[in-house]
Amino acid sequence: MVKSITAIYPGSFDPLTNGHLDIIERTSNLFTNVIVAVANNVNKKHLFTIDERIGLLSQSIEKLGNVKVHSFEGLLADYIRSINSFVLIRGLRVLSDFEYEFQIALMNRKLDKNIETVFLMTSQSYVFLSSSVIKEIALLNGNIKDFVPKHVAKALKRKRLDHLASM
Ligand code: COA
Repeated sequence: MVKSITAIYPGSFDPLTNGHLDIIERTSNLFTNVIVAVANNVNKKHLFTIDERIGLLSQSIEKLGNVKVHSFEGLLADYIRSINSFVLIRGLRVLSDFEYEFQIALMNRKLDKNIETVFLMTSQSYVFLSSSVIKEIALLNGNIKDFVPKHVAKALKRKRLDHLASM
């Protein structure tokens, strides 16, 4: 059965990397619409505010006509239900991601039996990427140009300068 499906790609995106973008672009080729859902978790310490993370993502998806950026608070399962979707996208980089993601996928299905988690294998060139590693390299003034979009690299540079100025 072919029908119109909106897929949700959730995450912290602190900040967005080329690895995330790769998953977003590939998801946009598979589903009618994609919502990139930025988790607004006040208990987690982020480098970028929720508005900054949304802004960086929005700039990156401008050319993808069927992708939107939203934010959500609370349980992901509740958010997915609130927008009448049931497809959750997660990227898998290495085998160790699978164990964690499998547990979360089963728990989300327990919270809402309609939720289907679809895993996309990260492209080989991004297997080693993570937002924390990028932040660490950027704050130590390393070269991150191959790992994030240009505007994200600029935003990281600004954070580094702000950090230095505050010392
Ligand atoms: N390319 C590059 N990096 C990737 C990646 C990819 N394709 N996929 C994941 N990553 C990295 C991220 O950069 C991030 O790196 P970091 O840990 O260094 O910051 C890490 O993998 C995990 O990031 P992400 O996929 O964004 O997950 P998250 O743990 O930040 O957020 C939520 C996951 C938001 C989906 C989850 O916390 C959630 O559902 N929260 C809502 C509360 C809830 O419902 N809880 C119950 C769940 S059963």
